[in-house]
Amino acid sequence: MSTYDAVYRRSIDDPEGFWAEAAADIDWDVAPATVLRDGRWFPDGRLNTCHNAVDRHVLAGHGDRTALIHDSPVTGSVRAYTYAELLDEVARTAGMLRGLGVGAGDTMVIYMPMVPEAVIAMLACARLGAVHSVVFGGFAAAELAVRIDHARPVVVMSASCGIEPSRIVAYKPLLDAALEQAGHRPAHCVILQRPQQPASLVEGRDLDWADALRGAQPAGCVSVAATDPLYVLYTSGTTGAPKGVVRDNGGHAVALHWSMGNVYGVAPGEVFWAASDVGWVVGHSYIVYGPLLKGCTTVLYEGKPVGTPDPGAFWRVAAMHDVRVMFTAPTAIRAIKKEDPSGDFTKKWDLSGLRYLFLAGERLDPDTYHWAAGLLGVPVIDHWWQTETGWPVAAGCAGLGLPTVKPGSPTKSVPGYDVRVLDPAGEECPPGVEGAITIRLPLPPGTLPTLYRDDARFAASYLSRYPGHYLTGDGGYIDEDGYLFVMGRIDDVINVAGHRLSTGQMEEVIAAHPDVAECAVIGVADELKGELPVGFVVLKAGADRDPADVEREVVALVRERVGPVAAFRRAVVVGRLPKTRSGKILRGTMRDIAAGRPYRTPSTIEDPAVLGEISDAL
Ligand code: COA
Ligand code: AMP
Repeated sequence: MSTYDAVYRRSIDDPEGFWAEAAADIDWDVAPATVLRDGRWFPDGRLNTCHNAVDRHVLAGHGDRTALIHDSPVTGSVRAYTYAELLDEVARTAGMLRGLGVGAGDTMVIYMPMVPEAVIAMLACARLGAVHSVVFGGFAAAELAVRIDHARPVVVMSASCGIEPSRIVAYKPLLDAALEQAGHRPAHCVILQRPQQPASLVEGRDLDWADALRGAQPAGCVSVAATDPLYVLYTSGTTGAPKGVVRDNGGHAVALHWSMGNVYGVAPGEVFWAASDVGWVVGHSYIVYGPLLKGCTTVLYEGKPVGTPDPGAFWRVAAMHDVRVMFTAPTAIRAIKKEDPSGDFTKKWDLSGLRYLFLAGERLDPDTYHWAAGLLGVPVIDHWWQTETGWPVAAGCAGLGLPTVKPGSPTKSVPGYDVRVLDPAGEECPPGVEGAITIRLPLPPGTLPTLYRDDARFAASYLSRYPGHYLTGDGGYIDEDGYLFVMGRIDDVINVAGHRLSTGQMEEVIAAHPDVAECAVIGVADELKGELPVGFVVLKAGADRDPADVEREVVALVRERVGPVAAFRRAVVVGRLPKTRSGKILRGTMRDIAAGRPYRTPSTIEDPAVLGEISDAL
């Protein structure tokens, strides 16, 4: 039996023994006597996540070790923080927040670009036992407003601007607009003024970050229950209302710490780099918490894979900071490949220290896999997970002896996860047969216990379809060797450049256009971004409009309401949408047509001729 097989078996046969052992690697204020009760991990344990991510490394004598490197080609700066420096910044920031009334259990929204203060704000929040909710910068004001209204933060932390290669993104006006739209009023907004574009502050409500920090007294760590929430991260569901995924403190610390060594094969003191954004789950887990819990050095990269300044940007960062293990999305590799197909830019840098490249966020297509593996000469490891799980569900576990790779598969279930592929009747699919990918309960520590303020939606979205199983929303199959193949979403979620988006949400925005009678948005395959949204729009009877004008307006509306990250650039006015006789839009068939897959004309279709019109419109 391989190491992986033995560890996996134990995690499934004796989950409580397995995770009790892993929990011993975390500092507890009160060690948990109970490991699992009613699906909740370590219910009687108490700890502080910030203590485990920062203080304990300083206390163990590693204060001089680099904790964080901010590498920012868009501002031309590189800055490193030791663990001792990070502790000082985090403790003072926590003191400042306490002074503004933030306490244990309160929420705080963080809307920031990729600057060290974003990480410091998250950790400061954790230090106080408060709950952060980070909102990705590429979302529009309306999306930020929805999250502010749901999270009801005491304080919002933001910055004057973010820097995209092509433009400066003024965050503060977006925040101001969001607060005008939102019903909830935070007591204060703390604004980091960046020299590239300072913002004007609203008297009484807004505070300049640097001023507020001056004179703040350092705050200590507040002990919280393992089951208390550490953060809420909103993610796209099938409707316009995002889902607030809750992460608790104890299970999260245990699972993430365990994953760093066993999944990613990285040791304390080594440099780990996840080229993502703190607004996504990858940023939460593997820019901030995972590497710091493990005592690694983490890299916070404010730039892109290409254009900042060239397709060698990732290789420069890896070489300059001695990165051992790197993590990005396949789309980033495709972007590099497009600009540097022969990989010449890798030759400019010494990449001999790089041990593994992990990829996730979307399916790793075999072409991209072969290109990256051939170029780098290190294991390229596909792994699959989602905001809800918080850490990998399937992966080649580098720390447990890498298995043979099957391109197109994220390998096998990670210890702790009992992955099952089910048919519509709830029976397990035989090897090679596609079905719904589910995880048998209990989910391991670190996965979502519920949705914020919405236990009913949690049960309805994830637990009700297949009793005793968590529904991932992805479809796929397990082959005869136990390798999982994830083929794509089986709901209305799409994946654009590794960003998870809801077509239902875009449809709600488009349907609000005064001339639109109805619409359907589907994901269409794209060579670079994996998928791109395309909207099919039916005009209201009597709407005397040039279709091209409406198409342009609809595109602008989605950018304004959802944000540039949606990359919604294509809307097509059509005469009708394909529907069943009961009026349900046949989105699945539209997706098949768009993908060029053979499709069966559903027997329930109202008028089969419409399918031809959709095909022509593409
Ligand atoms: N703040 C404000 N705007 C942002 C933003 C942010 N944090 N991130 C992206 N945007 C904007 C971009 O400027 C762009 O705007 P534009 O329409 O005016 O050009 C739009 O959102 C789409 O951005 P993006 O998806 O980044 O596309 P791109 O064409 O600029 O770059 C890639 C393409 C492939 C290079 C880029 O998507 C990438 O690096 N992807 C990696 C994905 C990733 O890290 N995923 C996280 C999961 S691991
Ligand atoms: P997010 O919650 O934003 O991390 O997105 C999660 C979704 O991205 C998953 O449900 C999958 O649809 C997709 N995804 C992530 N990683 C992979 C992967 N390695 N292979 C296939 N799909 C993936």
